[in-house]
Amino acid sequence: MIKADGLKKSFFLDKREISVLKGIDFTIEAGERIAICGESGAGKSTLLQIIGSLDKPSSGCVSFSGVDIFSRSEQELAKWRNLSLGFVFQFHHLLPEFSALENVMTPALINGIPMPEAKEMATRLLRKVGLDERLRHKPGELSGGEQQRVALARALIMQPKAVLADEPTGNLDAETSDEIVDLLLQCNREFNTTLLLVTHSQRLAAQMDRTILIENGLILES
Ligand SMILES: Nc1ncnc2c1ncn2[C@@H]1O[C@H](COP(=O)(O)OP(=O)(O)OP(=O)(O)O)[C@@H](O)[C@H]1O
Ligand SMILES: [Mg+2]
Repeated sequence: MIKADGLKKSFFLDKREISVLKGIDFTIEAGERIAICGESGAGKSTLLQIIGSLDKPSSGCVSFSGVDIFSRSEQELAKWRNLSLGFVFQFHHLLPEFSALENVMTPALINGIPMPEAKEMATRLLRKVGLDERLRHKPGELSGGEQQRVALARALIMQPKAVLADEPTGNLDAETSDEIVDLLLQCNREFNTTLLLVTHSQRLAAQMDRTILIENGLILES
């Protein structure tokens, strides 16, 4: 379902080339659960951003269900991304002025779902992540773990084909991170959602089907 072919990525700073990804190839089947591991600076986040179409590779391509994602126009790409992918980051990127409910509703509204329906979908998801008593709280009025659960609900509201998560439990205690991981796994089981998780946690990686290990911009093993 997700295929990377010869992905390379370099950044240029003061005319110096920093080669971060040096030729990454993999195939991930629909519904697979993948951990992306590797040392700090190995290129994991860079890879996830490219797979999620948030950044472009210097060369190589990424395809989803046989379609080269970067062959789409910016507008088409944004539309496709909103419908097909859910993102969870280490820092949640919630909108600070919006309530938990409004944050979770946003992707649904962007996709043209009418307000009452979006509200119902968001409420149901927030109940599922145990936050039905916190619907009107703004991110600043929630704990870190609660904020991360809101971010997860937001990532899942459109029932994406794949969830891309960059250290989704990096800032959480063991119990809260287990809850987040359980929710992701539940989604995987119920809707066959493909999971791609960047993590430094052996424990989390062990809960996935396999690990793609990145070292120095290349896949060391997968
Ligand atoms: N915009 C940029 N400009 C220049 N260099 C960059 C840029 N983004 C990332 N890098 C460099 O690319 C390398 C890989 O970064 P990346 O964020 O992908 O690492 P990572 O594997 O996610 O590390 P960590 O585990 O610490 O999050 C780093 O050495 C970083 O300094
Ligand atoms: Mg990173």
